[in-house]
Amino acid sequence: MVRTQVVIVGAGPAGLLLGQLLHKAGIDTLLIERRSAEYVASRIRAGVLEPGTVEVLELAGVANRLQTEGLVHEGVEIGFRGHRHRIALKELTGKSVTVYGQTEVTRDLMDARAELGAPTVYEVDDVTLHDIAGPAPRVTYRLGGVTHEVVCDFIAGCDGFHGVSRRSIPDSALSVYEKVYPFGWLGVLADVPPPWTELIYAASEQGFALASMRSPTRVRCYLQCSLDDRPEQWSDERFWTEFRRRMGDDAGARTPVAPSIEKSIAPLRSYVVEPMRFGRLFLAGDAAHIVPPTGAKGLNLAVSDVFYLYEALRGFYRESDGDLAERALDGYSPRCLRRIWRAERFSWWMTRQLHRFPGDAFDSRLQQTELEYLFESRAAQAGLAENYVGLPL
Ligand code: APR
Ligand code: PHB
Repeated sequence: MVRTQVVIVGAGPAGLLLGQLLHKAGIDTLLIERRSAEYVASRIRAGVLEPGTVEVLELAGVANRLQTEGLVHEGVEIGFRGHRHRIALKELTGKSVTVYGQTEVTRDLMDARAELGAPTVYEVDDVTLHDIAGPAPRVTYRLGGVTHEVVCDFIAGCDGFHGVSRRSIPDSALSVYEKVYPFGWLGVLADVPPPWTELIYAASEQGFALASMRSPTRVRCYLQCSLDDRPEQWSDERFWTEFRRRMGDDAGARTPVAPSIEKSIAPLRSYVVEPMRFGRLFLAGDAAHIVPPTGAKGLNLAVSDVFYLYEALRGFYRESDGDLAERALDGYSPRCLRRIWRAERFSWWMTRQLHRFPGDAFDSRLQQTELEYLFESRAAQAGLAENYVGLPL
């Protein structure tokens, strides 16, 4: 039997970042992950960092490469029916966002953890949480056919939407809020210099399209697609033809038909579970909430949860009075949820305004009206910008 202070389940960005912050505060962690290190490092995800996220990565000591290679964007563009409108993020809020792939954030965190020599066990099976309601929770897992047991003070459930942590909490202790959207996003990654200088979120008659990037030589683009579609049905040629049609302007037209190096489909979902704590188990990141990617909030929310959890645990270990120590933990869930619901609202709003929804002509006219209002009103643009760059931590 092994003992540690905090067992972290899941080595995605949430789990890795929490481990990094806790180790800097002198708190021991064991990180266990179902997949291999190679699999985790190669997963393609989003790539827009709020300034608050960059600050937390700086605090964790993992922002060196981000500062040299990240692309600072002072605006984003919204396209609608052939017109493009720039939302001047910097001018409206004083803040910019940084385009830096989640894959790179993950790599920086993995390198930092390896440098610390902090223990990480990959490719574990049958992760089971025990006694989470009491003061001495345990975690068991299997590795190469052998069962291991770890006793700890706390468990951090950073194991994503499909993980075991949330499922270990009795249903009766949780409230679930969920909205499933009737479409997905087909994403393509290609090694070609982006012909656009800022991200373009385009609403078109054929559906939504997003022009993004990962670096000066790599684009990331998305198309709204049917949930029944399969990536194999979308040849590169078909993807770029449709992309150009939806962009409907020169940025799209200049897109070369570049061979894709990754192509995948993700469904869109809004999901929140409350509260984010049960006894000694704390949920963070995708384990507790999902946002549709339209607001670029998924990774940023995972980072703010982790920052709050780090503060709560650090508060607990610094306090010698038992009651006060417990109190340091109490603020975690309400503090997270306040920020999460605001990001849920913004992500839902962006999704609602920019996608083609089936049915209702009234809703479709409202969508058009909303976008026209946005383009004409500086106040409406400031609202979008304030949320896009991220509300304060
Ligand atoms: N045991 C151990 N690890 C597990 C288990 C399990 N039972 N189930 C899942 N995992 C691992 C997954 O393999 C994954 O590596 O937990 C990790 C969760 O990582 P993410 O899904 O990346 O979630 P999170 O760290 O919260 O990051 C949130 O990822 O999905 C994006 O938009 C989201 O950008 C946001 C970020
Ligand atoms: C991405 O580059 O993958 C990306 C950017 C912005 C989003 C979603 C995804 O809103």
